Amino acid sequence: MCGIVGYTGPQDAVPILLEGLRDLEYRGYDSAGVAFMSRDGAFSIIKRAGKISRLEEALAGNQRDASSAGIGHTRWATHGKPTDLNAHPHTGANNRVVVVHNGIVENYAELRRELTSNGVSFSSETDTETIAHLVEQAMEDGHDLTSALRAAARRLEGSQAIVAMSAAEPGVLAAARLGNAGGVVIGTGDGENFVASDLAAVLPHTQRVLFLADRQFARVSPGEVRVTDADGDPVDARPKNVPIDPMSALKGQYPHFMLKEIMEQPAALSDTIQSLVTVEPPEIRLDDLGPAAGRLADVERVVLIGMGTSLHAAMLGRYFVERYAGVPAEADNASEFRYRGPVIDERTLVVSVSQSGETVDVLEAMNVASQQGCLQITICNTEGGQTTRVADGTVYTRAGLERGVASTKCFTASLVALYALAMKLGEAKGRLASGEIRAGIETLVRVPEDVAELLRGEDSLGRAARELSQAQNMLFLGRGLAYPVAMEGALKMKEVSYIHAEGYAAGEMKHGPIALIAPGFPSVVIATRNALRQKIIANIEQLQARGGRVLALISEGDAEIRTLADDSFELPNVEDAMEPLMAAVILQCLAYRVAIIRGCDVDQPRNLAKTVTVE
Ligand code: AGP
Repeated sequence: MCGIVGYTGPQDAVPILLEGLRDLEYRGYDSAGVAFMSRDGAFSIIKRAGKISRLEEALAGNQRDASSAGIGHTRWATHGKPTDLNAHPHTGANNRVVVVHNGIVENYAELRRELTSNGVSFSSETDTETIAHLVEQAMEDGHDLTSALRAAARRLEGSQAIVAMSAAEPGVLAAARLGNAGGVVIGTGDGENFVASDLAAVLPHTQRVLFLADRQFARVSPGEVRVTDADGDPVDARPKNVPIDPMSALKGQYPHFMLKEIMEQPAALSDTIQSLVTVEPPEIRLDDLGPAAGRLADVERVVLIGMGTSLHAAMLGRYFVERYAGVPAEADNASEFRYRGPVIDERTLVVSVSQSGETVDVLEAMNVASQQGCLQITICNTEGGQTTRVADGTVYTRAGLERGVASTKCFTASLVALYALAMKLGEAKGRLASGEIRAGIETLVRVPEDVAELLRGEDSLGRAARELSQAQNMLFLGRGLAYPVAMEGALKMKEVSYIHAEGYAAGEMKHGPIALIAPGFPSVVIATRNALRQKIIANIEQLQARGGRVLALISEGDAEIRTLADDSFELPNVEDAMEPLMAAVILQCLAYRVAIIRGCDVDQPRNLAKTVTVE
């Protein structure tokens, strides 16, 4: 969950490193630091706890020459509190090697004991520092920087992404990807090269990138990128062009990435849908399914996995699969799936949902599925994300870079991708006639404009947001397709406004949660026309009978529930499979508004990071 950047080339490295760290700050932001090297190999390290602005202040006061290479890091603390000393980069005992790292060295205590017994003294509490010492010792044993990193990697357990520099090789960066920790992206320029943990820090400079795969290493100098495997043998890794406009990553006229990305949903959905289907002829074209396309007809069961918001998308995907493909389906939290010994086999299709493609629990769950011979398809928003390398096929969403820690446009884009995949599976199973495929495609094609219309009216949430911003606790309730949306609405609210919010299947209320309802207790209820409306009306009445206050999301023109609820918001009348998507968009807006009223940092909520690449 940390951010890593590196640069080598003719430009002054420090401004490039700082720009990259700001681009990655959403990944983790409790401390930051840079190491930069002058042409003679002497390097300086400046690092601070706190936001990147503190690092920038420290650098502003530091007299230095232009530097031609450097590495930087923004941290989400795993070992050791956020302090100046624990901030990255870290050096070896003789200050000859400097390292930044994303991941967890699971055997760091054992390594620390061994190094300490050999006379090494540690200056920090971090696991990362063990890497710096190991690399430096390997160089003292005669290795060059990259082979020293390979030697050190052989001692490390767990998943890591590492970038190192050495005074012995001015201008050279060595990078490594071990396991499923956050990726290593290498951006290739003209006479300069960039290394980062995420596309967001590379795209402003170049769109020609390559991704290191598990247990690959790279020697990066201004004019060359040399990729090798764990044995040091060359790997043919060619850069490819990533079609994302870097300018889209900036906030534009919006105060926050989260609001920008909420408002981008019509475009994100349109781009995604256009990449998945054609209207004339009415076809579902999942071009990146690869060999998975030919195996869909044999699928007898589907397990959908994900974490957080992507799990909620997977839960909705389950409904789509059973409805449109007629195949038994279940959705599971990837961190549970990977340990429960799932009964799966080659007739099981495992669908992973991950906008980043880097979530460690999802990747580990996919490894379990691979070991059982399952067919795997991943829904991913990141070109070349690790899940796309593990799965047999990919359904890419085209939502563009999502920087807000709270996932919004990627969630709704995942829903339309899952809808298209479910129809593709139904078609392969002979379950859907051409007329139903056409109708499904027409449903998708209407979504972007329906969402645009919805967003034009979201400012009427103001009163509800003001009232809810005073709450200490709240419930989100839904039935059927609205149940996963209730879960998602609660997650959005809790992660950006810090209000304790729980999502529930409304049918659960009598089995315990209704004990929470006291006068004034707020609940948000998804009460659209296809969300088991009569049952939901009964839930609303039971809440109000105990003094609870209800904000109901209703279908356009539903005067009965508008009258019944304490407050309501009307959603457009859409095909029932798309009601959850409409409700989710409004719940994103609601969470954003409440968080702003409460003065929360919506783009970088406390304790969170955009991608969970370590356990
Ligand atoms: C959602 O708002 C959170 N940021 C988080 O739950 C996120 O959805 C989860 O970590 C999964 O991320 P992924 O889609 O990149 O796998």
